[in-house]
Amino acid sequence: MLQADVATERPAPAMNVAGHPFVENDSRLAWAATASALGMTDDARQALVRELDDAVRSVDGTGFVVTPFTRCPVVSDELGFSADGGVWVKDETGGVGGSQKARHLFTILLHLRAMELLGHLPERPRLAIASCGNAALAAATLARAARWPIDVFVPTWMSDGFGDRLDSLGATIHRCPRRDDDPPGDPAMLRFREAVAGGSVPFTVQGPENALCLDGGRTIGWEIGAQMVDPAGPGALDAIFVQVGGGALAACLGSALGESVPMCAVQAEGCAPLDRGLRRATGVDDPAQAWGRIMTPWTDPTSLADGILDDETYDWLGVLDAVNASGGSSIVASEANIVAAHELARRSGLDVSPTGSAGLAGLLEVQSAPTPGFDASSNVAVVMSGVER
Ligand SMILES: Cc1ncc(COP(=O)(O)O)c(C=O)c1O
Repeated sequence: MLQADVATERPAPAMNVAGHPFVENDSRLAWAATASALGMTDDARQALVRELDDAVRSVDGTGFVVTPFTRCPVVSDELGFSADGGVWVKDETGGVGGSQKARHLFTILLHLRAMELLGHLPERPRLAIASCGNAALAAATLARAARWPIDVFVPTWMSDGFGDRLDSLGATIHRCPRRDDDPPGDPAMLRFREAVAGGSVPFTVQGPENALCLDGGRTIGWEIGAQMVDPAGPGALDAIFVQVGGGALAACLGSALGESVPMCAVQAEGCAPLDRGLRRATGVDDPAQAWGRIMTPWTDPTSLADGILDDETYDWLGVLDAVNASGGSSIVASEANIVAAHELARRSGLDVSPTGSAGLAGLLEVQSAPTPGFDASSNVAVVMSGVER
């Protein structure tokens, strides 16, 4: 239900960028609509957002804020943009947990706390996530803030250092070796699904596992929509280049920005199940009904951008809608451009990971061939989505 709503939504009036992302967008958020329908007042919802945000801040040192959106002179100059065009960076590296992931998870947490306060959740089910990256860190941070127990299912190869960080946040870590009788697929994901089948709440950034993660992710897009038309902004954007792993980020940005900004979904050549799927979906009347044929796992994913190596693009339908509705495209970036984009982003002063700068690799790819609709005076956006660890 939510996914359908998210996919068809049109941009609403710009938000106030001086406000709080989750307070400002209360009237657009699904968790808030549900809580309101069940009797939670505007003041009570705002108090809940602020209380949880304060708790997050006390754990992470930062809370949810409108993140910067500025023209990057180094990247713009190096890529040959003129003064009236340029590359605009939405900088999520200073976000909770160092990436955009907590935005997606915050609306799940708000929903759970609202249900608790309204008396609909007498006992706390455990939270569960399968991840050993930014999503796990964000999930463990929010769980600690809410004092909610969480199980994190991780692959056997997760580094001890990362395990220590999750441990220090109080998460219960489960290393997941492949079992002899396991079906194909990621064993951590299999164990996660077993936990959910046993009553845990999927606290995850994959829409098909928990559609409420697609709620909060949209705040990034609403912010860009407002910052774009701010006096300090470009006024309009000719494209936004977004790195795609599981696809929730691009689906949310596309939904929030609507038709106004062409969505360029970027994957690495070493893992491009979305691009392959979108080609398979061409001419198919109802792609959702052909899921098993269109979205198949990528064999042996590999790239320096290791956070977007999801072998399946879980939220591919949302990305497909965004690309189609906005007249955007799917871009496969060469590994050389993934590396070059990271180096360029670092040169510009951004403390961003290769995953977090992978959208810029899509722009490099486009620039290497003459592209209709782009010239030196174009204004384009990228999302620097995660800090270098
Ligand atoms: C820093 C960063 N950027 C982008 C992504 C991709 O987001 P999504 O999986 O929603 O496509 C990830 C996913 O792990 C990430 O860690």
